[in-house]
Amino acid sequence: MAGESRTRGYHSGSVDTVLSVDEVAREAEKLREAVPEERLVALARGEPFVSIRGLRAGYGNMEILHDFTLHVARGQSLCLIGPNGAGKSTVLHSVYGFTRIFGGSIVVGDGSARRDITRLTPERKLKEARVAYILQDKSVFPGMTVEENLLMGGFLLHSPRAAKEAAERVFGKYERLAARRHHPARVLSGGERRLLEISRALVMEPDVLLLDEPSIGLEPRFIDLVFEILHDLQHKEGKTILMVEQNAKKGLEFADLGYVLVSGQLGLAGTGGELLANPEVGRLFLGG
Ligand SMILES: Nc1ncnc2c1ncn2[C@@H]1O[C@H](COP(=O)(O)OP(=O)(O)O)[C@@H](O)[C@H]1O
Ligand SMILES: [Mg+2]
Repeated sequence: MAGESRTRGYHSGSVDTVLSVDEVAREAEKLREAVPEERLVALARGEPFVSIRGLRAGYGNMEILHDFTLHVARGQSLCLIGPNGAGKSTVLHSVYGFTRIFGGSIVVGDGSARRDITRLTPERKLKEARVAYILQDKSVFPGMTVEENLLMGGFLLHSPRAAKEAAERVFGKYERLAARRHHPARVLSGGERRLLEISRALVMEPDVLLLDEPSIGLEPRFIDLVFEILHDLQHKEGKTILMVEQNAKKGLEFADLGYVLVSGQLGLAGTGGELLANPEVGRLFLGG
């Protein structure tokens, strides 16, 4: 899939208007402007809940993110967009503890509960800092029932009973899953499978959801379903959402805030609406 989409670039429009990924990356470099941190804090309503400051992180000895800063308020959503390979997934991996961190900090929480989680293990991030990374793309076990898959989300809870209760809460919320609880997960549609992936993370009652391309591989009607579910989680349950979305239009329409990442650095930041209205963002990432 990756190979094919690479040559097609980012447009959904007619083929002759398509920019190659290399062209998008080159042009995106020109977009980059210095965004003062005060502006980022203001976008997070002056009260950031998740703050990434001066982050330098990567894999092995390779630094992918250079002095990257991000702020998002509690109950806000932020979408990272940018060219392929810009480091978007690496931002999420860093928050969750899957990268090597060379410098900078990641802080989560408000008031006196605010704490530095930069070097916590993923397990402690989930359990103590209530940050969940939504595993997707083949992370559902097809031969196991929907219920068994969901219960796996509670593996860190202190008892099987606590996991069962947490799973029941999720079933109470999502009728579509409850109706299929004893069916093998392989019978789920693409959209239901994505819902199961998200639900599995909800078992731990996280405050912060990290989502890497929630719409990937889904038919359009399921994409809308996934964004509706995320909308509910943000607006009805106050979850803070940090997502990466290749479908930049959907992502920016959904999210309160948008950041454009270019070569491991912040290129542009604004409200989702501001970025949607930015002609250069439109030309490079929105297919118009
Ligand atoms: N596990 C990994 N080990 C080494 N390099 C990686 C790994 N994952 C990603 N990279 C590299 O990090 C860079 C940024 O990748 P990524 O964060 O996945 O970009 P994006 O999500 O914006 O497409 C790329 O050059 C990629 O090859
Ligand atoms: Mg990625």
